[in-house]
This record gives sequence, structure tokens and C-alpha cells, in this order.
Amino acid sequence: MKKVVLAYSGGLDTSCCVQWLQDKGFEVICFSANLGSEFSPAQLKKKAKASGIKKIYVEDLQKEFADDYILPALKANAVYESKYVLSTALGRPLIAKYLVDIAHKEKASYVAHGCTGKGNDQVRIDTTVKILDPKLKIIAPLRVWELTSRESEIAYAKQKKIAISTTREKIYSIDQNMWGISIEGGMMEDLTNAPDESAYVLTKSIDKTPNRAEYVEIEFNKGAPVKINGKKKNFLEIIEILNKLGGKHGIGRTDLVEDRTVGIKSREIYEAPAAWILHRAHQELESVVLDKDTLSFKETVSQRYSQLAYQGLWFSRLRRSLNAFVELTQQKVTGSIKLKLYKGSITVASRKSKYSLYKKELATYGEDDQFDREDAKGFIEIFSLPYREK
Ligand code: ARG
Repeated sequence: MKKVVLAYSGGLDTSCCVQWLQDKGFEVICFSANLGSEFSPAQLKKKAKASGIKKIYVEDLQKEFADDYILPALKANAVYESKYVLSTALGRPLIAKYLVDIAHKEKASYVAHGCTGKGNDQVRIDTTVKILDPKLKIIAPLRVWELTSRESEIAYAKQKKIAISTTREKIYSIDQNMWGISIEGGMMEDLTNAPDESAYVLTKSIDKTPNRAEYVEIEFNKGAPVKINGKKKNFLEIIEILNKLGGKHGIGRTDLVEDRTVGIKSREIYEAPAAWILHRAHQELESVVLDKDTLSFKETVSQRYSQLAYQGLWFSRLRRSLNAFVELTQQKVTGSIKLKLYKGSITVASRKSKYSLYKKELATYGEDDQFDREDAKGFIEIFSLPYREK
């Protein structure tokens, strides 16, 4: 029997995939990863068993996801098209890597996933699999089967007696992990519609957030968050705390018409409270400790880095090379940033670093000014030379 390892979430798409692959004569081995959303190994195993699955790998990858994917993206200030912190995108290469590893272990020559034929996720997973093992064959049932709409999928699930749980699943397509949540479909496909308040999961709407601001101080060591309000925490814990805190203050909602890798524009809303708080704090600290040229060049790198991550080119040579550059820039990104959270907004309250390049004696307009104004005259004379026409 041909063996296939399927990336399995237990949701509508992958549940239908199990059935479909079995109908095509495959022995299906499932793989489910916990990347920090609601996750119940027991329930997944039960569901898989009910669909006739004999073997399922359930892996808790939260730490690996946080340390090896999210953290590098944070250090790189990787935000796609200014609004998307890449939560879904960053998880895909990790899932693909495990698919390949498990296929090797199981001596399976096929891997499969439940991504649609129009999205970015198929590109990310397939590309990663091809980079890591070009010999593996990839099956994406949603690219070939006859179930072209969500309605027909639901009908198929009913006909095959596949249990489908949530009603939300019927309205929106949702992907969630610890770095954020992506919500698309339904009424949001019409660009003239504002997002429906009921679509949001992690964040409070502004009229329900507290009327009193809250402060949070984040300490970084070499670009990595290490303390929150003076207390040492690991990165995973920091993300969890900030998702709750930010969500309570309505922070981290974005609504983006984005450019997919497959060429189409699509609209998605995102919630990522912790990600936006950490990105903001990290960038504030960089502005204090990095010199002008490094900061400016890093902006270009950030943009390219975010595009590579978005396109699923995580394991490409270029992304890894840019990562090496980013790592080197982080040597002095050590210090604390205090932020004020209030009604969906983040403002800076305090910046501290032993590597600060800000020198008060040079910046001040007060008595103790040490900046030599007389030097300025000669400097400007020469600085303006290339721009003078007469
Ligand atoms: N647009 C996002 C991306 O390409 C999210 C894709 C998955 N979204 C979803 N609602 N299932 O990374």
C-alpha cells in the first residue's frame, strides 16, 4: 500500500482529505503540530481514529516555533506589506520540515496537505518540501478534487459521516497560532464591508476596552525579549502574557488587502496583540542603539526578509544570509522599553539601554550643551557642495 503523511488539523479540509486519500487507496499517517492555538491531542487522536487512521504523530512544537521561526522574524522586523506579522506564514516551513522528517521515518514516498489551490500555504509547504527533499511526491487533494466550494465540502463531509465541529468554520476560514490569527472569507470578501465584530477572537473592540491605560516594560537581550515588568520569562511565556494583555486593550488588529504569491489580491483580517507590542518595543530599542546606516539598511533587509518569509522561502540561501546579517545587528539590542497600552494604541513611555547612542549632552538645548555649533558651519559648507548649481 502507498504511504502518505498528511498534515492534519482535524478541521473540515484535512478531515475530508483523510477520507479522500483513503478512497484513492493510500495508507494515511497523520501529523498534527501544536503551534500555540487551542489544541487537544486527545481529541485529535480520537478524531483520527474515527476516520480509520492507525497512526498519528502529535507534536508540541511551540518552543521550536517561538525560538527558531518567530524570534528571527522579530529580530528582522519582518512585517509583510506593513500590516501582517506573518503568523501563518512562519508556521508553514516548520510543518513542512516535520512532514519530510516523518515521511523519511515512515519510509513514505508521499506527503499531503489540505491547503487550497489558490493560497500561499500550498506554495510555502510545497516549496519547503522540495527544498528539503525534492524526491518526495506531494499530494494536495484540494487542488484536484471535485469539492470546489465550502458548501460542497460540508455536503461531502456529511455524506461520508465526517464530524465537523464549529459553525465558525462554516463562515470564515481561520488559521491561528501563538503569533496571531488570520481570518478570511464570508462577508469580508466584499471590500466595501467593514469586518464583522464577531469575527475577532483575541482582541476586544475599542468600546469594550478599559478606560485606564496599562504600562508594560519589556527587556531585551541581544534582540530577544527576556523579561516582562522586571520578571524573567521565556519567549513563549512573554508571547502568552502579551496576547492576553494586548487583547484586553484592543491592540493588534489589522485589515489588509494583500498580494498573494499566486498573483491575486485577497483580503484578510489579522489579530496579533503580542506580535505588535513586541515589534514596536524592539524597533524602539533599535532606534536608540543602532547607528543611522545600519538602521536604514536594515529597513531594506526587513522588507525583503518579510517577502521571503511570506513566499515560503524560509530555507532559501537568501533568507538565511539575511538572517546572518540581522543576527549581527542584534549584538547591542539590549535594554528596556516601556509601553503604554490604551484603546488599541501603543505609545512609548520609556527607553533605556547601556548601549544607547543617544547623548543628552549633544542633543540638549539646555545649559550643558556640548555640541560645537561653530563646527556646523564648515560641515554644512562641504555637505551642500554637490547640490549647488551656482
Ligand atoms: N493570508 C495569510 C497568509 O497568506 C493567511 C493564510 C491562511 N488564512 C486563513 N484564514 N486560513 O499567510
